[in-house]
Amino acid sequence: MDNSFINFPVKLRDPSLFDGRGLLNGQWRHAFPQKEFPVYEPSSGQILGFCANLSGVDFREAIESAHNGYKQYYSSTTAKERGSLLRRWNELILENVEDLSSILSLENGKVLAEARGEINYAASFVSWFAEEAVRSYGDVIPSSYKDATVITTKQPVGVCGVITPWNFPAAMITRKIAPAFAAGCSVVIKPPSETPFSAIALAKLALQAGFPRDIIHVVPTKDRSASLELATHCLVKKLSFTGSTGVGKLLAKLAAGTMKRVSMELGGNAPLIVFDDADLDKAVEGTLICKFRSSGQTCVCANRIFVHEDILEVFTQRMIERVQKFKLGRGIDSGVTHGPLVNASALEKVEIQVQDAIKKGGQLRYGGAKPLEAPAGYFYQPTIITNATKDMLVYQEETFGPLAAVFSFSDEEEVIALANDTEFGLAGYIFSENISRVHRVAKRLECGMLGVNTGVISAAETPFGGVKESGVGREGSKYGLSEYQNIKAVTIAG
Ligand code: SIN
Repeated sequence: MDNSFINFPVKLRDPSLFDGRGLLNGQWRHAFPQKEFPVYEPSSGQILGFCANLSGVDFREAIESAHNGYKQYYSSTTAKERGSLLRRWNELILENVEDLSSILSLENGKVLAEARGEINYAASFVSWFAEEAVRSYGDVIPSSYKDATVITTKQPVGVCGVITPWNFPAAMITRKIAPAFAAGCSVVIKPPSETPFSAIALAKLALQAGFPRDIIHVVPTKDRSASLELATHCLVKKLSFTGSTGVGKLLAKLAAGTMKRVSMELGGNAPLIVFDDADLDKAVEGTLICKFRSSGQTCVCANRIFVHEDILEVFTQRMIERVQKFKLGRGIDSGVTHGPLVNASALEKVEIQVQDAIKKGGQLRYGGAKPLEAPAGYFYQPTIITNATKDMLVYQEETFGPLAAVFSFSDEEEVIALANDTEFGLAGYIFSENISRVHRVAKRLECGMLGVNTGVISAAETPFGGVKESGVGREGSKYGLSEYQNIKAVTIAG
């Protein structure tokens, strides 16, 4: 397949980075006979390119190759050498940041500045795990048996199945596979069918960096049942998934059939609480960033915004003043601050939640529709609704779009109960200048990550993951490496 017949709207420094073929065992793979799926640009609804629609047979081939690959890779490299390979990959990603950002912006819709931010964020995991590779210490444990010592070492789990989401087409790849490579594992990646090109471009750079060809495989597909090989094949020892809680539960059940390790980074319904002792500037800034980042399409976006009744009106006014200045449009165009939603069903979900909230007494304060001068893509105005209540869909479900639903509260106990009143527990945010309150509330909120007086919590050094039905495992940070390792305890007697 050749994507060149598609009118790629940006001139890339290295046009070969835009590729729709799968990568198996170092070979670029077309789908036969002529099976490709179109990938659409969310800003226009037009076809951006085509991608190989690979099959279960391709997944099995990739898994078998990855199985042989990791053994050779692990036994023939030191941790230091694996770190060096990661460092070279990091350099290549940064050298190609403009091309990678353009590809990402076009396939996902996010604005170029955010796309650049994501590529740098993606690179930061590679650089982080290049450093962590050599810090994979074991223990020496006094044994209860006479004349014996126990030592522990960390070994790679083996082949890792990696299933990534469309909202972070680059960073979720590196957050999963950089620690896998640092540990000595191999990976078979199923990239999202909405945004497969970033994953393919990153894999190309990984090969250029010198990673052996049998430890990285990219198998794009639209066929869900084919990708389930990653959850069921006995040679896959670990499954790492980012996506919805529903799909995560299904994958975890399947993975249990062969007792795979799993990391599940699933849905959220983040509470954001603004207390009456908050610094309003910080609260407005933090809410804007974490609600409207990627047009509301991150799993750590604020979903329910609880504002103390005494400051609700002034907070709302300040939010309206700021969102009025947003400029919606095609992510790669200059001056645009916010892009579209990823597809028609994402747009429909936001529309349904907005209509539901209005029907149930919510007060529409800004937005509430597609933009009047709507470009052809999946755009929705930034929307602010006050008088939000518990019976609304937006209280119960993750929105994944630019709807800021504002709930009023009067005291701390009440708002903690509301914040925890969800099966999810990914991120949370609080705004308060009272340090005792910050400690009290931070302790009681049921979430894996909490931002205090900030809407920005994601970084390579910070453990990313949730509690309750938001998933299991932690990515990034000093904990991220151990997700790809088994501890071996060796008792040495005599
Ligand atoms: C996600 O939405 O899945 C990831 C968000 C982040 O890393 O900040």
